[in-house]
Amino acid sequence: MTDTKKSVHGAWSSRFAFILAATGSAVGLGNIWKFPYIAGENGGGAFVIVYLLCVLLIGIPIMIAETMLGRRSQQNPVETMELLTEEAGADKNWHFLGWMGVIAGMLILSYYSVIAGWAMAYIVKAFTGSFFDADATAIKELFNDFVASPVQLIIWHSLFMLATMLIIVRGVHNGLEKAVQFLMPGLFVLMILLVGYAMTTGSYIQGLHFLFKPDFSKLTGDTVLTAMGHAFFTLSLGMGAIMVYGSYLPKGISIANTVLWIAGADTAVALLAGIAIFPIVFANDLHPGSGPGLIFQTLPIAFGAMTGGWLMGILFFVMLMIAALTSSISLIEPVVAWLVENKDFSREKASIWAGLATWLLGLGTVFSFNIWSDVKFFDRNIFELLDYLTANLMLPIGGFCIAVFAGWIMKRQHSEQELNMATASNYQVWKILISYVAPLAVFLVFLHVIGVL
Ligand code: PFF
Repeated sequence: MTDTKKSVHGAWSSRFAFILAATGSAVGLGNIWKFPYIAGENGGGAFVIVYLLCVLLIGIPIMIAETMLGRRSQQNPVETMELLTEEAGADKNWHFLGWMGVIAGMLILSYYSVIAGWAMAYIVKAFTGSFFDADATAIKELFNDFVASPVQLIIWHSLFMLATMLIIVRGVHNGLEKAVQFLMPGLFVLMILLVGYAMTTGSYIQGLHFLFKPDFSKLTGDTVLTAMGHAFFTLSLGMGAIMVYGSYLPKGISIANTVLWIAGADTAVALLAGIAIFPIVFANDLHPGSGPGLIFQTLPIAFGAMTGGWLMGILFFVMLMIAALTSSISLIEPVVAWLVENKDFSREKASIWAGLATWLLGLGTVFSFNIWSDVKFFDRNIFELLDYLTANLMLPIGGFCIAVFAGWIMKRQHSEQELNMATASNYQVWKILISYVAPLAVFLVFLHVIGVL
């Protein structure tokens, strides 16, 4: 058993290494690219509050549960579910949870890689001075011209997938784990500098109001589902990514404390991104609901206008790319780990096949921004459909099942022993959240969306 695990990437050297990897997985495009644009599309304040509540009451307890399941079995998600179902004497149908995670990971990565490709392309644009003194209209045109070109998007999408595969082949220990150590503080500093710029735009307060002043009349069933889905997406929950990382976590390390740190850092990065972006939106008469192009149409204005903006622009997009890489490897790791451990693939072969399949799927997203923009299913283009299917449906369903499994199926003495919390009442709080609050909340949101509630 230990030998096969080594072929995947061995155990984390310490709690700190796990924190770095899991934070690397959590903090990514979801925080800096997705959170601001979906907050913008869904009316701001009220959406943000629902999202924060979901992180606290659903996300954190489920993150603790998912890490715990992985660590208990020390296997990939598919085997974890097989092993723990057997240990609990439960129904074999639970195995599907592992499978759904493997599939959701590839589906998410297919579009994630396309957007990460945009960030890479913007490193070059920042370097060549494209943002210099450009106004909002010019920056918008730059973005629209860029996404109108399938060839350009394919090139950048391919480069990003290639980078992901190279890292996956070598195992995450070398290099990337260390990169996260610099990335997190670096990202924080840059985001704070951008917030500093946002304060000078004259629309800072308006931006803050938009982001934090709730107008609950803006909430619909779908808005609440999007906010909840995003809590799963941003914390990398519901599909086995955190389970895989948990499986490499040495026994005896406190899971709950560690998870609180990770969720805190993740939320802070998202809020900083929102605080930096919306003042720029309002100062330039842009629309908060501009969609997936939002950060690419706002932040370059700041880089073009501020002193030192050239260097900051380059650094920002480099960091965004690295943040995306530390997430993308966790999206593809479940399928690679499964191919290596169960199908006897070498790590190289597994990475190449998983990578190629995901790359191919990504072309659907590439084309949905240009030649296939009119191809719609249920009123959504391919990118929107993939995003809805994964973030709004598969991750919450996966998370719901993880909660039910950890709260109801797994024996109490096993979860108590595995979590080893500081006090009995801490365990009790988690137990109530995971058994009742989290699954019930997910269930009610679904009922509301399908119109039963
Ligand atoms: N949490 C990542 C982000 O916010 O960018 C995205 C993600 C990674 C989602 C891994 C799911 C996952 F399993």
